[in-house]
Amino acid sequence: MAIFIDSSNVAEVEEITKWGIISGATTNPKIICQDGLSGGLEGTIKKIVDIVKGPVSVEVTEEDAAGMVEQAKEFAAWDPENIVIKVPIGQEGLKVVNTLENELGIKTNVTCMMSFNQAYLASLAGATYVSIFFGRIKDMGYDPREVIADTREMIDREELKAQIITGSIRHLMDVNEAFLAGAHIVTITPPILKKMTWNPRSETTIEEFNQIWRDMKKKGLLK
Ligand code: E4P
Repeated sequence: MAIFIDSSNVAEVEEITKWGIISGATTNPKIICQDGLSGGLEGTIKKIVDIVKGPVSVEVTEEDAAGMVEQAKEFAAWDPENIVIKVPIGQEGLKVVNTLENELGIKTNVTCMMSFNQAYLASLAGATYVSIFFGRIKDMGYDPREVIADTREMIDREELKAQIITGSIRHLMDVNEAFLAGAHIVTITPPILKKMTWNPRSETTIEEFNQIWRDMKKKGLLK
């Protein structure tokens, strides 16, 4: 299991990577527009690759297969080892995954997936990662744990190379549930990663221990 950071905010990625728990990063057009692009897309992505030293997903925005492949080649050239091309699921998307993975040797992360059917097709087409959107599946009234568990069972049974990334994480419990259901990777935003470090009982316990230490010091009892 592994944790990716779901962000293109270079400062946040840099700070959280120092914790030693981040194995990769994911972005999407919405995240990139929200986080801003002071270094331009290429500059920002290159900085993130440099910080996380692992797979960084960048999503294509063209809508036909030829356009997506051209964009993918441009992004992949920034760092052929670490850039992963995020391809939206669909008929055009599957063609792109087949071309990138099986002809050009470019890794893909098939994104925006809400169902087992989609994840199965993407895995068969040769995707390196299949991104299942936990929060958005729940929004529609379905249980994302079933989609993850079924997909994992199929990947293991058919010995496909795809790894499940669970994204669209909205709450702390989503992380636990995604991993327990069989996700290989959960990609998590900085605010949720920060919340994962915190527990009120930990805070009061640390304060209790430090207060005792401070009192002893004040009394001159610590040499
Ligand atoms: C990650 O790969 C996804 O793009 C991201 O987690 C989607 O999150 P959202 O559903 O909050 O937009």
